[in-house]
Amino acid sequence: MAQKKKSSASKSPKANGTAAPSVNITSYMHEERVFHPSKDFSKGAHIQSMAEYRKMYNESIKSPEKFWAKQAKNELVWLKPWKKVLQWKEPVAKWFVGGQLNVSANCLDKWLDTPTANKAAIIWEGEPAGDNKPGEERVITYKQLHRDVCRFANVLKRNGLKKGDRAIIYLPMVPEAAVAMLACARIGAVHSVVFGGFSAQSVADRIFDCQAKMVITSDGGFRRGMIVQLKKNVDDALKLKDAEGQSLTKTIERVIVLKRAGNEVEIEEGRDVWWHRELHHVDANCPAEKMDSESNLFILYTSGSTGKPKGILHTTAGYLLTAKMTSKYVFDLRPTDVYWCTADVGWVTGHSYVVYGPLANGATSLMYEGAPNFPEPDRFWRIVDKYGVTVLYTAPTAIRAFMKWGVEWTKKHDLTSLRLLGTVGEPINPEAWMWYREVIGGSKCPIVDTWWQTETGGIMITPIPGATPTKPGTATLPFFGILPEVVDDNGRPVPKGSGGKLVIRKPWPGMLRGLWGDPQRYKEVYWSEVKGSYFTGDGCRQDKDGYFWIVGRIDDVLNVAGHRIGTAEVESALVSNHNVAEAAVVGRPDELKGQALVAFVTLKTGVIASPELREQLRAHVGKEIGPVAKPDDIRFAEGLPKTRSGKIMRRLLKQVAAGTEIKGDTTTLEDFNVLSRLGSSDD
Ligand code: WT7
Repeated sequence: MAQKKKSSASKSPKANGTAAPSVNITSYMHEERVFHPSKDFSKGAHIQSMAEYRKMYNESIKSPEKFWAKQAKNELVWLKPWKKVLQWKEPVAKWFVGGQLNVSANCLDKWLDTPTANKAAIIWEGEPAGDNKPGEERVITYKQLHRDVCRFANVLKRNGLKKGDRAIIYLPMVPEAAVAMLACARIGAVHSVVFGGFSAQSVADRIFDCQAKMVITSDGGFRRGMIVQLKKNVDDALKLKDAEGQSLTKTIERVIVLKRAGNEVEIEEGRDVWWHRELHHVDANCPAEKMDSESNLFILYTSGSTGKPKGILHTTAGYLLTAKMTSKYVFDLRPTDVYWCTADVGWVTGHSYVVYGPLANGATSLMYEGAPNFPEPDRFWRIVDKYGVTVLYTAPTAIRAFMKWGVEWTKKHDLTSLRLLGTVGEPINPEAWMWYREVIGGSKCPIVDTWWQTETGGIMITPIPGATPTKPGTATLPFFGILPEVVDDNGRPVPKGSGGKLVIRKPWPGMLRGLWGDPQRYKEVYWSEVKGSYFTGDGCRQDKDGYFWIVGRIDDVLNVAGHRIGTAEVESALVSNHNVAEAAVVGRPDELKGQALVAFVTLKTGVIASPELREQLRAHVGKEIGPVAKPDDIRFAEGLPKTRSGKIMRRLLKQVAAGTEIKGDTTTLEDFNVLSRLGSSDD
């Protein structure tokens, strides 16, 4: 059972006396609480002990090819066996060379002659209508999903989409989004899902970059009771031109439109067709295309805080194996689970952990269309209660929002069906971790804090829930086959306890295969920083138990009077104060110190901002971390500028902190209004 032990060290600053000269990030966080998986949980789990985890992990590192061959054989259905497990010529990896398979067949056909055929593949809950009516619901079995995918795959073919062609998917969180992805995979077309919150410009840029032939969209989607005009955005995108007046989207031949919101849209004859009408012309017979292991499965553009978005490319066999295995072991999927990953399919989390990973495991994946606080802040808990959700995977930013809204919303519902909780997207501050554990998990659910990236395809550093003792704030240990290391500027491993760059030493099946159309940039961004390794861009430290603690993006590490401080740690210290809901820390140029710390802070509901509170918070950080980390300026804000995936847009906050005009791309910003309200430091 959980053993609670919080040493005084976790509450007081500790000088890091062991730092070697080459080490360049000092980590100040010292969390010492440890929680062991309960015997009850472990005894039904896929992996039941650390000994079992270590044995499998060691095998995966010592003889990777043997390990992956065994996994690929057990986990995937092959149409033709591979000849070579790995062909590695840095930075290009090819996995399961010579093999053939189909992703959609692995997610659907595989289950047809089994008891899983009539099990729910997708449970979908629509956004509730504005007048507070309960949401629509749909339950789609594996057999039905197979039929829907086959039919839509025939629609794609009928409309000229061929193997290797690219299609943009720009849909709300409806089951048809998964149908469209799987249908592309079935015929060997490459999908690029664009998040429904993105603008016409983002759609056009992505169409241009991947030279897409088709857009799959809907009339509209619901968001907080309003209709997002998706088709209208597509129409606008298809009119956009570059600086020379050239159309960005001339490759588009067809737009398929799903009727979802019922809003009026324009249909351009010869270009646009309705999804439901097209279905009249097809049957449900569509054999899955034989695809090479390394054929392209999807491109996903990362929101990218600077510059042109990067088209992250993932291929077939390696990606699917990673998605499947991580889903199985990290979420410990069991046949009876109702598994809910709250991410939108527009993000990689939605690809790997709403669609491909769970379906390849024959699991039941829940999809919810709307926002967590619409019509009321108990929306998630209502859904957990209604469907008896057993595994919940969400983001720290959502957890902090729930903390802010208060426990009266969680208490209204029965959450006892939950048996496992997960987080992803950013470092989770121990405060939020504890709240998640106690309030949502009733102190009985293991928490898996999973570190990974769009580029990695699947989870890389994570607890294995039946085995790994967890500590609040760390993603703990590597998944099978993953060899992470923390290194200094010269690529040498740093001693335990010291900060450095997080790299991955070995290729893994789910890794990105490149940036679409830009091999040079792929090499520069990921394979040039540290020789012979994949560079993650994250700062990290390993503790004495070998656990990995992410301290934030390297670009966000601040240099304050010669101290290198990860922003995540100062933020974590701020939110450990009971008045604070969320915090973002950035640097501002400072003559004396090089950089000065500016903190943007949102307060919990009911807490009033005041100069006294500002001083109190500065003192609090001083006590938690040390005087060097005390923010020079604290600005209270109603909200923080975030991307739709919940990442704080520090680039914008830096400009606000420095008092310069906001420049650059703000199209991914969730709520533009927050920016204008951040301008001054008045209370
Ligand atoms: C970056 C990747 C992975 C899918 C969603 C985000 C940060 C992600 C964690 C975690 C600390 C985390 C890292 C990483 N990150 N998960 N558990 N602990 N940091 O995908 O947009 O590609 O972002 O998110 O900085 O590099 P992404």
